[in-house]
Amino acid sequence: MENPQFLSRCSADTIRLAAQSLSDGNLVAFPTETVYGLGADATNPDAVARIYKVKGRPADHPLIVHVHSMQAIEPWVSEVPAYAISLARDFWPGPMTLILKRSILVKDFITGGQDSVGIRVPNHPLALALLQNFYILGGKGVAAPSANRFGHVSPTTSEAVRSELNEFLESSDLVLDGGQSIIGLESTIIECRQAAPQILRPGAITKEMIQNSTGLKIIEGDKSVELRVSGNLEKHYSPKAKVILDETPVSGQGYLALSIFVTPQGVTRLASPKNNNEFARDLYMALRKADDLGLTSLVIQQPTGDGIAIAIRDRVLRASNGR
Ligand code: TXA
Ligand code: MG
Repeated sequence: MENPQFLSRCSADTIRLAAQSLSDGNLVAFPTETVYGLGADATNPDAVARIYKVKGRPADHPLIVHVHSMQAIEPWVSEVPAYAISLARDFWPGPMTLILKRSILVKDFITGGQDSVGIRVPNHPLALALLQNFYILGGKGVAAPSANRFGHVSPTTSEAVRSELNEFLESSDLVLDGGQSIIGLESTIIECRQAAPQILRPGAITKEMIQNSTGLKIIEGDKSVELRVSGNLEKHYSPKAKVILDETPVSGQGYLALSIFVTPQGVTRLASPKNNNEFARDLYMALRKADDLGLTSLVIQQPTGDGIAIAIRDRVLRASNGR
C-alpha cells in the first residue's frame, strides 16, 4: 500500500482539503488535546468499516462521534438530561465524552449495536477547525477512535500515528500534525442515561469536577464491562515492553516516575514529569520510547492521590496486565 499523505502545520486550505477528504469517505487522523484520533464520516458505513480494519478492532466496540459544538450534538441524540447539559456547558470543548440515548441517525455500525451514542467536542484548534469545515460541507459528525492498532498505546503525536498505522492506511487517507497532545490521556467517558452521571473511563475531567458541575453524587461501580468500554479489556494501552508497577528499577530497565524520584545506576529514565499533569502528558510517549529503545521491561512509579492521578493509575494498571 502507498503511504498516506502527511500534512504538517496545517493551513486553512489544508484543513478544508482534509474536511473534503472526510466527506469523500477517506480516513483522516487528527490531533486532539487527549490523544490523536482516526476519523471517518460517522454516517458513512464503508468509511467507518475502514476504521475497524485499519485499527484491527473488533466490530462490536463502539466509536465516539466528534462534533464542533454543543448544538451539533442534536442530530445524534434523542434525550439529554439536565445534568448532561451542565457538563457540556462546563467542559466542552474538552476531554469529556458523554454517553447519551441515540437518535435514529446513529446506526449500529457506530455503536456496536448498543442503543446509546458516545459524543465529544474536542478542545484542539485543528480538530475544531476540521470538524467545523466538515460541518460546512454538510457533514454531521466524525467517528474517531484513538489512532492506534487495537490494544496498543494511544498516539499523542503525529509521528506515533504514523508508526502505528502507516502501513494500514491508503494514499487517499491523511495524517494531520498538530503537535503533542497536551493532556495525553483519553477523554473521561460519562454514562448519562441514569438519574446521575457514572464514570466509565476516568480522565482529565475528574469525579470532583463532575459533581461540582452537576450538583449530583456520581454513581459508583463498574459498568464498563457490560458496555464494552475497550479500555476495560485485560490487556490495553500496552507497549511490547513488560510494564512493572512500583518496584525499584534495576540496571537495564526503563523507568518512569515523577522527577523527585532518582534514577538508579544503569536504568534508562524514560521521563521525569514534575507533576501529575506532566505525568499524564508524557506517559504514552514514555511507553513508546521504551519500545523504540528495545527495552524488555520498564518500571512505572505510580503517582498517588486523586484528580488525574486516578486516570494515570487506570491506564498503567491496564498496560501492566495480561502478560
Ligand atoms: O479522548 C478520546 O476519547 C479519544 C479521542 C480521539 O477523542 N478517543 C478514544 O476513542 O479514546 P477509543 O475508541 O479509543 O475509545 C473510546 C471508548 C471505547 O472504549 C468505547 O468502548 C467507548 O469509548 N464508547 C464509545 N461509545 C460508547 C457507548 N455508546 N457506550 C459505551 N462506551 C462507548
Ligand atoms: Mg483507544
